[in-house]
Amino acid sequence: MNKRTFIKTTLVGIAAIFVPHRSKALEYYPRPSDKKWAVLYSTWCGSARDAGVWISEGMDGIANVFDVRENPDLSRYDYVIVGGAIRAGRVSQEMQDYLSRNREILKTRLRGYFAVCGNMMQPVTPEVTARLIDKHLAVICGVTGIPSKVFLGRITFGLMEPDVREQMQKMPGIKEYDNLKRDECMAFGKEVLAATSKHKPT
Ligand SMILES: Cc1cc2nc3c(=O)[nH]c(=O)nc-3n(C[C@H](O)[C@H](O)[C@H](O)COP(=O)(O)O)c2cc1C
Repeated sequence: MNKRTFIKTTLVGIAAIFVPHRSKALEYYPRPSDKKWAVLYSTWCGSARDAGVWISEGMDGIANVFDVRENPDLSRYDYVIVGGAIRAGRVSQEMQDYLSRNREILKTRLRGYFAVCGNMMQPVTPEVTARLIDKHLAVICGVTGIPSKVFLGRITFGLMEPDVREQMQKMPGIKEYDNLKRDECMAFGKEVLAATSKHKPT
């Protein structure tokens, strides 16, 4: 390496250290579609993220999938599905705040709701769906009459915040489980797609 090249290389190297790189959130690259779809989820331990990705997979991967903590601008999308993990009967505060803040944007775009919960490992009944979707997510968003689904999720102690894990492990009879089903999530994605061509939300 001659002296000039050495100096140039060194300067470029130093510049690279000091010029901040714009960090970019994880993006799922949707497949081409005539409409732009997004799935927005909130999660603590990842089951609702997997549900969101699998819902998109059921739609042949045409939806971009966002964690609510990315605070995405969903006005760029034609249709949106929102959902999240449940703790103490609610989706995360971040999700509740996001939905309230973006009510106007979501009003015309919402096409589906989902929730992921433990439900004490019992099958999901219409009462559970009413509690988590109709009386919770739909109330915050102010949109009804669109497909909705409650999925059973997972408990993984190692992914919990230490204080939460400690509390959970003290609960009698509690154990790790995995009840989230990819085929159910995919079927919901297909259901939303099919309904969107037929129904208008109220
Ligand atoms: C602290 C805590 C509170 C929970 N509260 C509820 C609840 O109120 N109702 C319910 O059905 N499931 C509840 N669950 C179970 C979660 O909804 C379930 O584990 C879900 O899969 C978590 O989703 P995530 O992995 O996306 O965070 C709770 C779990 C934890 C750890």
